[in-house]
Amino acid sequence: MPIEVNEQGWVLTTHRTAYAFGINQAGLLTHRYWGVRLPRLDDYPVAPSYAEKVSFYEPLTLTPEEYPPYGGARFVDPCLKVSFADGVRDVVLRFESFDVREGDVPELLIHLRDTFYPFRVTLHYRVHAAYDLVERLVTVQNDGDTPITLERIWSAQWHLPAHENYRLMHVTGRWYDEMYLRREPLVQGIKVLESRRLTTSHHHNPWFAVDDGSARESSGAVYFGLLAWSGNWKLSAEMTDFGSTRVNIGLNDWDFAWRLAPGDTFATPSSFAGYSDGGFGRASRSLHDFIRDTILPHRPVVHKVLYNSWEATEFAVDERSQIELARHAAKMGIELFVLDDGWFHGRNDDTAGLGDWWPDERKFPHGLGTLIAQVNALGMDFGLWVEPEMVNPNSDLYRTHPDWGIHFPTRARTTARNQLILNFGRTDVQEYIIAQLNRLLSENRIAFIKWDMNRNVSEPGWPDAPGDPRELWVRHVEGLYHVWSTLRERHPDVIWQSCSGGGGRADLAILRLADQVWVSDNTDAAARLAIQEGYSHIFPANTMEAWVTDVGRERLSLAFRFHVSMCGSLGVGGHLLHWTPEQRTEAAHWIALYKEIRHIIQFGDQYRLRSPQEHPFSAVQYVSKDRSEGVLFAFRTHMPPPAPVGPLYLRGLDPEAQYEIEGLDGIRSGLAWMHVGLQLVLKDFDSTVRRIWRR
Ligand code: DGJ
Repeated sequence: MPIEVNEQGWVLTTHRTAYAFGINQAGLLTHRYWGVRLPRLDDYPVAPSYAEKVSFYEPLTLTPEEYPPYGGARFVDPCLKVSFADGVRDVVLRFESFDVREGDVPELLIHLRDTFYPFRVTLHYRVHAAYDLVERLVTVQNDGDTPITLERIWSAQWHLPAHENYRLMHVTGRWYDEMYLRREPLVQGIKVLESRRLTTSHHHNPWFAVDDGSARESSGAVYFGLLAWSGNWKLSAEMTDFGSTRVNIGLNDWDFAWRLAPGDTFATPSSFAGYSDGGFGRASRSLHDFIRDTILPHRPVVHKVLYNSWEATEFAVDERSQIELARHAAKMGIELFVLDDGWFHGRNDDTAGLGDWWPDERKFPHGLGTLIAQVNALGMDFGLWVEPEMVNPNSDLYRTHPDWGIHFPTRARTTARNQLILNFGRTDVQEYIIAQLNRLLSENRIAFIKWDMNRNVSEPGWPDAPGDPRELWVRHVEGLYHVWSTLRERHPDVIWQSCSGGGGRADLAILRLADQVWVSDNTDAAARLAIQEGYSHIFPANTMEAWVTDVGRERLSLAFRFHVSMCGSLGVGGHLLHWTPEQRTEAAHWIALYKEIRHIIQFGDQYRLRSPQEHPFSAVQYVSKDRSEGVLFAFRTHMPPPAPVGPLYLRGLDPEAQYEIEGLDGIRSGLAWMHVGLQLVLKDFDSTVRRIWRR
């Protein structure tokens, strides 16, 4: 039973793990346990209780509450902060009742209520047993007749077992340089990671992994989790002075307020978290399986090899230039041709056009239909770029509706890349964009849409907002989800890509809408190795769109560039007209090979054998779920000679079965390949791909 109840409280059990909490002697909902699953219900500790021994050691501060509100003598970072209409800002929650909802994803609801005010808080726990994940979210309801202002409402506080020296792993970066893994000790105090940019951001991602400093890729205990949200978010990892460590995650409370009117409810986004006793590798494989099986809109669909013309033609697109590229692409085995920026009304550079989503009359005098028909006749699907949340001041849309942008009326509107952001919290904006894109999708045979977003917010105002203007932070993101999901419902076969100047919007919520992500605008394959590694800690390879471009071609062979991109969902973005016939033939070879092995990469288990962020000789391996085949990629960037490199130890093979590795002598047991390993020799900026077969 994934949800078990006894007099000590509740135990949520997954395949390998358990999460327990209960009501302590003071009546507080208190954390009891998170870790490996134990044989008996009585094995789980009781909810701890604390009596006052010293006035400065407040029981409320010592107690590991599941969802501490701001109130009383609590000095931990609280999950919930509200102002009642009379000015009281102190919440006192008491357990009222619970419900269990059976189903594919069993759910436990814990109902709490304020002791004085008509304010209800429900904690939702959903158990994703097969993936060793627990999902948490919170709903609140105003049962009174005066408004309540929400000032902070996080999704979860995740408690770690008592330990002195935890280490937090997270990703940092910036545009063109995303997803760097950072590991740092958690010491007394609070470590905050956040986005204030109205989107997930290139800089940090709402994901964490915490261990005691001893976990490795394939061993050790790791607590990990994330938030499914594409707007402002906050992670606060606190180690108290009493040795308790907790990770809070949820909507960012910075500049946030929500007016909860009488009768209204508010729901937070979900946070998912898990425990792995198989190191960071198992933690990410749990997330990969979960995302592929339950989150992605088109779950088992093989992602096509695409060509994107952005780096070749930039804004200078027209029917002729695109068809020339498409002919070469088709001959190389490309399956999907994507026309990027520059195709719509008035768009010759980045100063104009955003908002006017119809084909530019000069570049496409026959509309997009002729180009699409020719692309289809070449045997490829057609895809298109859009940036729906944006508007250029130089556009028909802005001239007609200047009030639709996010702005403060008394302040100049800061442009970035010459563009402003539409307020997707407004229903008129949502309806306009839905109508524009719906027409585009209805009138044209479009199989793929790349949804871009090329700036972050400024002057986050909403004149005439129906509620508190600071609701913008949430309402804009909910509006984005509404527009996107409405279009998805009307055009269910379209595959969508999430892009925000590269990897600025990669998160679990956007992956409910988009099947793949443009991970970075940096397409230098050597740099990409590191970016791809960071990405792989959170997201599966099938979501990782990776193009082979001309960037770095002076030092990186075409083979190297292909091998890097073949580690995800392969694409090509180089200027094919500038490639020699030999290069196009070589490209066709790699594309054909990719098609043979992509089911392993896109749907198999990923093992990071050696980190490119730590070592210039790196390797990654993918193994099919039935362990009958695999594929190994190894890369060497620059290593000063002499460069001793130890063997690579494969992972994930059936220890008893016999395997052959392409290009290596002998058939050996899976156990041998995993423990004796194999030695590969590569020169600087060299790479190899080796298939693995069970014999
Ligand atoms: C940023 C994207 O990341 C690029 O791939 C490209 O689509 C440009 N925007 C187009 O403006």
